[in-house]
Amino acid sequence: MPAAKTMKKLTLPGLIDPHVHMREPGATHKEDWDSGTAAALAGGFTAILAMPNTAPPVTSAETLQSTLLLAGGKACCDFGQYLGAGADNTASAPAIAPFSAGLKMYLDQTYGPLRLDDMTDWLTHLQAWPHGIPVCAHCEGKTLAAVILLADLTRRPVHLCHVSRREEILLIRKAKEQGIPVTCEVAPHHLFLSEDDIPAIGSGRSEVRPRLASRRDVQALWDNLDVIDCFASDHAPHTLAEKDSPTPPPGFPGLETSLPLLLTAASEKRLTIEDIILRCYTNPARIFCLPDQPDTRVEVDLDARYEITAAGAYTRCGWTPFEGMPVQGRVTRVTLRGKTAFEDGKVLAQPGSGRNVRPEVTTPPGVTLPD
Ligand code: NCD
Ligand code: ZN
Ligand code: ZN
Ligand code: ZN
Repeated sequence: MPAAKTMKKLTLPGLIDPHVHMREPGATHKEDWDSGTAAALAGGFTAILAMPNTAPPVTSAETLQSTLLLAGGKACCDFGQYLGAGADNTASAPAIAPFSAGLKMYLDQTYGPLRLDDMTDWLTHLQAWPHGIPVCAHCEGKTLAAVILLADLTRRPVHLCHVSRREEILLIRKAKEQGIPVTCEVAPHHLFLSEDDIPAIGSGRSEVRPRLASRRDVQALWDNLDVIDCFASDHAPHTLAEKDSPTPPPGFPGLETSLPLLLTAASEKRLTIEDIILRCYTNPARIFCLPDQPDTRVEVDLDARYEITAAGAYTRCGWTPFEGMPVQGRVTRVTLRGKTAFEDGKVLAQPGSGRNVRPEVTTPPGVTLPD
């Protein structure tokens, strides 16, 4: 007779992923608000913040309102929606700010049409956007250095997305030491994969921005864990057919693999459970000014060992760059506001039960709020 299996249980707070792509409107064959938020719950996340590079992109009161209406009808977990910074919305953006998760500035080439090239537009947005509502930037290498300078010049907090390289994390350390108000996030794929994995994953499937980096870069992220404020999946689903096409779009799914990968690293003593809670709950809640979710928790089985597979996942994209990777740690139950939202591999939360993290949205966007 096999020995009775022990199950080492752990209860975490409802985790927050401040960087995901839901693809609705415009590309619901990749993901929609229902499938994407179900993937979030299956991964232990009870709140997600969605990026604005949809089709159309979210850059106006109208597109924000229509996207929030879609989200409100379908989301299974709590959600916020970022506003994209463009050259043409520097004047209108501040009034829309209270209804958004924050402002997203795309400053290097990535997936979608949003990109701000002129640094005077960066400056205008940073000066006009209300303090107390977050600003995030996609900025790599020397662009990241430029953004740090602007955060210093304008004395306003800027959150640096998906930091991946040694030179970037060391520069952020220096900036923080000087009191420059920057925070940053790192995606699990930049902690658990390097460019050495590209042949095994395949070149099209490996496309992601920022690109998978060298093993030295990966080591530098682990060595500077204290500089990393948040872990964020940058869940960026594209279908297998798209990834294997001659023009593969950049992006990896990540919502359902982030926590298992991090728990595995905890089981290997590469970080602690407290490190995970700090970067997946405490810091994101503070940096992104998110409301408390009462009676909300995530239960995990720390002993469960299995291999990551895309089969049975809730994301619509149908693949994962971590296929076959052995992990230890499984989400067994998620409770959101007292209701079981996920249990035994099944999402139970109803589409539409998720709430907007910016409840002011009941007032029509476009209305100018007093300072
Ligand atoms: C993201 C996407 O597909 O929307 N892709 C990516 O490679 N990370 C865009 C982004 O986050 O830069
Ligand atoms: Zn559904
Ligand atoms: Zn990005
Ligand atoms: Zn992204």
